[in-house]
Amino acid sequence: MSSHSKPALTFTSSKQSTSQLHRSLQNKQHSAAFRVSAQSSLSAASEPAGYAQRKSDTRARGDVRTLAVAEAVGRDLGSHEEEEEIEANTGDERELPAFDWKAHWYAVGVVQDMDPSIPHPLTILGQPVVLWYDRNEAKWRCFLDQCPHRLAPLSEGRIDEEGRLQCSYHGWSFEGRGACACIPQAASEGPEAKAAANPRAAVRTFPISEAGGLLFVWPDSDPKAAYKAAYSRLPLTPGVADDWMTSHYARDMEYGYEILVENLVDPAHVPFSHNGVGGINRKSAAPLEFRITRMDHTGFFGRGVSGSFAPNTVGGNEFLAPNRFSYTRTTPRDDGSESNFIITVHVTPRGPGKSRVILSTYAKTLNEKKVKTGLLARVKGFNFRRLLFRFRPRWLTHLVLDAIFDGDAVFLRGQEIALQTTPANASATSAVDERGVRKVDAPREYFMPTPADRFVLAFRQWLNRYAGGGVPWAELGVPELDVKLTSREAVMDRWHQHTTQCTTCSGALEKARTAQKALWVAAALLVAATLVAGQAWGPLARGGLVSLALLSTAAGFALNGLVQRFIYTGYNHAK
Ligand code: FES
Ligand SMILES: [Fe+2]
Repeated sequence: MSSHSKPALTFTSSKQSTSQLHRSLQNKQHSAAFRVSAQSSLSAASEPAGYAQRKSDTRARGDVRTLAVAEAVGRDLGSHEEEEEIEANTGDERELPAFDWKAHWYAVGVVQDMDPSIPHPLTILGQPVVLWYDRNEAKWRCFLDQCPHRLAPLSEGRIDEEGRLQCSYHGWSFEGRGACACIPQAASEGPEAKAAANPRAAVRTFPISEAGGLLFVWPDSDPKAAYKAAYSRLPLTPGVADDWMTSHYARDMEYGYEILVENLVDPAHVPFSHNGVGGINRKSAAPLEFRITRMDHTGFFGRGVSGSFAPNTVGGNEFLAPNRFSYTRTTPRDDGSESNFIITVHVTPRGPGKSRVILSTYAKTLNEKKVKTGLLARVKGFNFRRLLFRFRPRWLTHLVLDAIFDGDAVFLRGQEIALQTTPANASATSAVDERGVRKVDAPREYFMPTPADRFVLAFRQWLNRYAGGGVPWAELGVPELDVKLTSREAVMDRWHQHTTQCTTCSGALEKARTAQKALWVAAALLVAATLVAGQAWGPLARGGLVSLALLSTAAGFALNGLVQRFIYTGYNHAK
């Protein structure tokens, strides 16, 4: 069953009536999600599966502009000239409503890696929020990270004995729907006894949903937003079944949404930017040709037509606006079956120059034919692969991904600062407009002579055409990007960006440190034993003890390297 078919949508609200309405909407959301899932699935057909349906839906809506762009299927949207031609074809287009950045679900966390016993702070679209686990209703909650009492951050609080979120400044406690449950300073009789029930004592809540191992937040605390959130589908990866091998990783990045998405839709950088990580070699760089086959306000779709992404693999790459990009690869196998592999990245804008990425990998390696031929075939095929997947430590996968994201960090932060400090054209006095957007005219400002950059161009085209060129930070009331050059250490600070927020990695780090201490204590004891024994033991025994002490010390130092990998390693691209 596709994960789309069970969105398990929930949201928090201090209004009981809203909650009841939400529950009544769940079935509608359920079926809507299924329909969209079917439209979004990728296939080997000449046009993306669901494309015909999209065209039909588009016509039914009378959305002339979307239809005109969508009918450019098969046309390469790569050049600026072609872009102008498509614009000209839109004729008497209707204006789409302004892009509402708050009216979307954003991935905010990997449930398996989040400690449910503590509150977790996060900034999303410039708004400070706190995520916490409400054990009374077995649900994650998202509150504004400001206590209604005197605005202290609730994320500095704790989960109290009753399972409520408690502000640690004066001890006010809040139940899962945001209502204040306790004011320790209020008298138990008289007007003060009713203070907790005052709506002003309730904390603002945001819709939140858990699905497919991830948490999603709708970053609008207006009570009316809950209705829209309930009707909107989650940006889950289409076509993934429950039995697929799945892995998730989350990290905060010191560069913004636009630059991060541009990087993630660009496979051409991988051999160089990640040289030396997980077998990636810069010598493997080769021409790549991608073609965009659909673009509308919901995103775009494209596929490889030559190079390592084609033609012996089937699949495609889909950007689901504004925050999900999926690479889907289906590789035919000799026995007639196929293996499926999907990488999905979710990008969440935290603030100007700050984002959160969640990378998920999904693999289906079940070999249907071999499974039927007997136990040995099962061991060689499906079960063996699954065994490897199960026993490879999660923290090891996370360390590889730490290194992957380190590889891009200095480039992206530098590119972002270059864009912010360089006027878009000679007559511009400021690079950033009054909405707080640095609109990038990619064909003019970048020089991208090969089709390897098609997805980058497509993203910038989509951003400019449908989303105002970027997140309008000034309109959202968020101070603009601080362009002071951040140190390399801060940009690649995997300790704060990942390890401290990941129970898997912080747990592995703790074990490594404990093992390190044990090895050094063992080495000291062995040396002491050798000295105490003195001449009473023969040279062979003493030599053995000293060798063991040396081995123990060496193992302790070796673990030092592992410990450091959870904190900071940097990245030397000059090697
Ligand atoms: S500021 Fe939170 S209880 Fe006072
Ligand atoms: Fe981790």
